[in-house]
This record gives sequence, structure tokens and C-alpha cells, in this order.
Amino acid sequence: MLYNWVNQDIMLSLLEENHAQTLFDLVKENKAYLSNWLSFPSITNNVEDSKSFIQKSLFRFVNKEGFWVGIWYKDTLVGSIGFLYFDWKVKKTEIGYWLGEAYTNKGIMTNACAAMVSYAFEELELNKVEIKTAVKNMKSAAIPKRLGFQHEGTIRADEVIRDSFHDREVYGLLKTEWAK
Ligand SMILES: CC(C)(COP(=O)(O)OP(=O)(O)OC[C@H]1O[C@@H](n2cnc3c(N)ncnc32)[C@H](O)[C@@H]1OP(=O)(O)O)[C@@H](O)C(=O)NCCC(=O)NCCS
Repeated sequence: MLYNWVNQDIMLSLLEENHAQTLFDLVKENKAYLSNWLSFPSITNNVEDSKSFIQKSLFRFVNKEGFWVGIWYKDTLVGSIGFLYFDWKVKKTEIGYWLGEAYTNKGIMTNACAAMVSYAFEELELNKVEIKTAVKNMKSAAIPKRLGFQHEGTIRADEVIRDSFHDREVYGLLKTEWAK
């Protein structure tokens, strides 16, 4: 996936080093908002941190270990979505995502996520996609629910945000279920 038009307004494109400044600016502007649910903004302190994140993502892309893409909405970088890992033996992956607050409530992430799920099943020929959300992150959980994922359980103390352990809900979707 180098780039992929989701619809006439939304485009997904592999994050490259020349996006580092724009990505950093977006994270900086949304640091407080994103830090409610994600830990990476707290360790993103300058453009070099964003560049390093992009370099690692490209390395993982080349090695078929996972990758992140930028989400462009009407030509503006508004967020990111990625495959956190690929388990080629079990044919499984997990999707993670975030948006700048100003770009929420427009359906951008649901549409971007649907495109990534299609890519996982059709291009990568995986069998299962998972999404994990902190138990109280209703806006995030609404995305897998909207896309027909099943709630598979709650994992206790599955991540640390702002020095506190958080339980996470697991949502899963099989290739056969997506086809329907
Ligand atoms: C998680 C996150 C991406 C969800 O953002 P979002 O804007 O709610 O998701 P979408 O872009 O899919 O938009 C869905 C909303 O737009 C509305 N919408 C408008 N047009 C829409 C369309 N064409 N299609 C779908 N939904 C649409 C939906 O009704 C929904 O609003 P509602 O929740 O009031 O019903 C965002 O809250 C975020 O970045 N949070 C911080 C980081 C985070 O939590 N990441 C996930 C960690 S697990």
C-alpha cells in the first residue's frame, strides 16, 4: 500500500520521512487530546521523534512486520492508522489508529479502517483482524462495532497510559465474516 484512495476526500498513504514535520505538528497540536488514550504523544517531543517513528515504520514495512499510513482528508494530514504487527503463521494482525480532534465525527476513521481491513484480507490474505480499545474509550470501540467486529473479551491491565494500568476490550473479525 503506497497510497490508496478510500473515497473522494480520504486518502491513505505510507508515511515517509518528508511527512515528519507535518506529522509532528499534528501530534503536538493534539498532544493533550491523544494522551488520554495513547502513550506515544508523551514521547513525541520534537520533529526527530516523528522522523524516527516514520523510519521504524518504513523498516517494518520493508520487512513485512507491519506499517503505519497517514490519513489525508481533503489534502490535509489528519491522523494515522497502522498494522501493529503481522503474524504470518496465524494470518492475523491488529489495527491501531488516531485522529486530530478537529477531524473527528466525520466518519474518517471508520472509512479508513474499512479500507485497511479490506487490504488485510484481500491483499495480504490474512484471516483475522483485531482491534483493542481501552474499556472506557467508547469512540474507539464504536469503530470495530460499526464494521461488524465481534467483542471477544476483556484483557486486564493490558496497557499503561499516564502511569496507570488499563484493561482493554478485544474486537475481532474473520475473513469469512468480512466477506458477508
Ligand atoms: C478513536 C477515534 C479515531 C474515533 O474518532 P471518530 O471521529 O469517532 O471516528 P470516525 O472518524 O469513524 O467518525 C465517527 C463519527 O462520525 C459520525 N459520522 C459522520 N459521518 C460519518 C460517515 N460517513 N461514516 C461513519 N460515521 C460518520 C459517526 O456517527 C460517528 O459519530 P458518533 O460517535 O457521534 O456516532 C478518535 O476518537 C481518536 O483519535 N481518539 C484519540 C486516540 C484514540 O483513542 N485512538 C484509539 C486507541 S484504541
